[in-house]
Amino acid sequence: MSLPPGFLDELRGRLSLGQVVGRKVIWDTRKSNQGKGDLWAPCPFHQEKTASFHVDDRKGYYYCFGCHAKGDAISFVRETENVDFMEAVKILAGEAGMPVPERDPQAQQKADRRAQLIEVMEQAVQFHRLQLQTAAAAEARDYLARRGLDPAAQARWEIGFAPANGGALAHLTGKGIDQKLVMDAGIAAESDRGGPPYDRFRGRIMFPIRDARGRAIGFGGRAMDPNHPAKYYNSPETPLFDKGRSLFNHGPAREAAGKGYPLVVAEGYMDVIAMSEAGFGAAVAPLGTAITEDQLRLLWRIAPEPIIALDGDTAGLRAAMRVIDIALPLLEAGQSLRFALMPEGMDPDDVLKAQGVGAMQKLLDRAIPMVQLLWQRETDGKSFDSPERKAALDKALRDKIKLIADPSIRSHYGQAIKDLRWQLFSGRKPAPRKSGGGGWAPNSRMEAWKREISPVATSKASALGAGASAEDHLREAVILAILIAAPQVAPEFESALERMECRDPAHQDIQRALLRHLGATDLSAAVVQELGPDPLERVMGHNHVSISPGVRRASEPDVVRMCLAEEFAKLTARQGHAREIEDAVEDLGGVPDEGLTHRLRQAAALLDQAGRGDNEDKAEYELGANGARMKKDERNALDSLLEQINFGKGAQRPKS
Ligand code: UTP
Ligand code: MN
Repeated sequence: MSLPPGFLDELRGRLSLGQVVGRKVIWDTRKSNQGKGDLWAPCPFHQEKTASFHVDDRKGYYYCFGCHAKGDAISFVRETENVDFMEAVKILAGEAGMPVPERDPQAQQKADRRAQLIEVMEQAVQFHRLQLQTAAAAEARDYLARRGLDPAAQARWEIGFAPANGGALAHLTGKGIDQKLVMDAGIAAESDRGGPPYDRFRGRIMFPIRDARGRAIGFGGRAMDPNHPAKYYNSPETPLFDKGRSLFNHGPAREAAGKGYPLVVAEGYMDVIAMSEAGFGAAVAPLGTAITEDQLRLLWRIAPEPIIALDGDTAGLRAAMRVIDIALPLLEAGQSLRFALMPEGMDPDDVLKAQGVGAMQKLLDRAIPMVQLLWQRETDGKSFDSPERKAALDKALRDKIKLIADPSIRSHYGQAIKDLRWQLFSGRKPAPRKSGGGGWAPNSRMEAWKREISPVATSKASALGAGASAEDHLREAVILAILIAAPQVAPEFESALERMECRDPAHQDIQRALLRHLGATDLSAAVVQELGPDPLERVMGHNHVSISPGVRRASEPDVVRMCLAEEFAKLTARQGHAREIEDAVEDLGGVPDEGLTHRLRQAAALLDQAGRGDNEDKAEYELGANGARMKKDERNALDSLLEQINFGKGAQRPKS
């Protein structure tokens, strides 16, 4: 259950910790200074004769210098009365004359709703699966067979069939599911002529779309008739299905990428399926829309240099150019793109069918770096035989390069373009820089570029430059270290980790390795096996990291949770991605402790206070819980985090 926002703050505001504690101890009047709210007593938590137990009545904290017990009024009552968090709140609320409200109905409702929608989607997947086995689906099965998907492959992808007259709505409501829920899941739709709701998917092959954690969130439905005006029909946006922030085959692709398979982004579901079935398991696709910025970020969480597989037609090239425009401002050391051009008129599925795995491997090996595609777009088929034309080319390229935010990457792009320009205008090849062999074969050029824009070449320079503050850097290290130190809690933070934006490429490597091995009992061994011992040693070696409470007290799940949630909140707040955090905490649904909400807030306030510099801009701060000062944006992020945890309470964990 969750309390309404502000309830605990008000409760603490009304209570005097001195009074609460005063019932259990005898103050040392000589040592205490009542007027200042500075109170000392022999500690109630351990045997002693001296007064090493201190209460700061104004701030509402106690701390024992002997046994290090610490907390606030609520934890004091918990500990001394041996009650749980909510009990303690009720006792104190009674004393303060505050009625304890029943559960926060809105947050609970939202959480329940999501859990229900997920369940409806699962049932719909099952329904469509079964339909594919019926007599009515003979044509669908033939179609799939023709496309090279045998029953085992169909089962792997959970491919189903929506009969010509639909049937999902009737089936689901027949099982007692509320019609409104079926509509909210995007399976049925309101009739525009005021008639009864109807099935969205009729006469289609159904591809379930699952999120990274394996929960069914939508469907892609393919018409079998090649002349059907809408070849694919996808689920609409629903509370579960955010097309711009999801990827088809996300979870399995992430796992395969972890095993070293190249991450390939194709345009279609069938491409992803064909790629995976052919052994390129790290394949994903957007969901019927152009690739978004959010999707690029997700891709970079999986691999530093995803390969965009382009259909060999003008539409494919246009799509690539759009991707470039979105990607340029986001480029950083350790996150770039490559492009693999399919032969004229073919998509990856066609290539595999017609030319086989070897041909695909070659295409991927020859994937060109972004800078080269950019260059090609501006130069292919054009002649630069006048100063004006040359100047126009320079301007066009300069305008693109200006979009790159990272100064180090920007200068490397500038250099790469200069080299290309020099070759074009002088008709000669440049002296090889850095690369041993040199030469003008596309491959060796590419290798040279790869080295230039690779993380190894630039990490030192830009890890701490380019807008990433030292504080963010440390915070990243702390988060990674806690996750490694507390493998039992780490999986709860999967999606927070996935959305975390590490600035340091070395941290990105660890982040990816962690994502791959979350759930492993010996998480650090798994990461070391993948990356070698150095990156972890560097992270753990920070002084700040080794003294972080989450690392020191890694065996205490509650401490770990609260430290992680707080660090994520702060990082997110700093990076100004309030929206990211909402998603990040969505998966904290299973957190068991009713008091977590409160303790998160408290921990954040405490730690913030501890780490606060003296010369910060006062205006930016406001009082947080317990009177500690927090930056407003941190506070907002934390509040949204807390709200989300409450909201996620009812959500079910997936079968995985
Ligand atoms: P394609 O037409 O390239 O899909 O569209 P495909 O996967 O190769 O399809 P097959 O091989 O003909 O079965 C690429 C993606 O664009 C979306 C779908 O997500 C599709 O996978 N799309 C395409 C739609 O949403 N609607 C359409 O009508 C067509
Ligand atoms: Mn296709």
